[in-house]
Amino acid sequence: MRLRIFALTVLVFVWIAALFCAGIGAQAPKPAAAPPKAGSASRAQADGNLLQVMRGILFTNSNVIFSAQSHDPAAVKRDDDPTQSTDPLKGTYNGWEAFENSSIALAEAANLLTIPGRVCSNGKPVPVQNADWIKFVQGLREASMASYKAAKSKSTDAIVDVSDTLTTACANCHDVYREKTPAQGGMAARCTK
Ligand code: HEC
Repeated sequence: MRLRIFALTVLVFVWIAALFCAGIGAQAPKPAAAPPKAGSASRAQADGNLLQVMRGILFTNSNVIFSAQSHDPAAVKRDDDPTQSTDPLKGTYNGWEAFENSSIALAEAANLLTIPGRVCSNGKPVPVQNADWIKFVQGLREASMASYKAAKSKSTDAIVDVSDTLTTACANCHDVYREKTPAQGGMAARCTK
């Protein structure tokens, strides 16, 4: 009886060892994953048009920053169930943290404005290669990071100042690429100069 248990234990041990070796064996010959080729490291792709990015990300997050002009960031009350909140200022990550988060969302959104292949609502390509477009995107990034710093400092004055800077960063680009009078071609002329 004792011998049988011993034999069984050895068997199980050998079996586990075999599995273990097979595991190592199976892994060993695999070549290391090929490093991404130059230019393909970023898998960023454009899934929405520019209008959708503006409405879905820039509009919503900049409103959090702009709200400091009319509401004291520290005084906004959380929703009863903040985990379900649709307003960042009243949700789980509320108060100054909401300002930090929306500032970062805007800074990261600047990256989305540089992805080639996105089109505007009128089907025209987003002019990511234009020097002034690149400059306007950089302006948005800088304003967003200034906003992040202001949020970190928990200064209402600083966040109100910076929301002005942010408005200007949005408007600089809109003046050239969004606001098109009928004489300029209206919607069809958006994203062109
Ligand atoms: C680098 C250029 C650029 C920057 C920076 C930029 N936008 Fe835009 N935005 C555009 C263009 C171009 C359109 C028109 C998009 C289209 O029709 O496809 C647009 C459209 C919009 C719209 C939709 C308007 C409509 O017709 O419904 C909103 C809202 C908007 N932007 C908000 C913002 C806010 C807020 C900021 C700053 C935090 C910002 N944008 C920064 C270029 C920019």
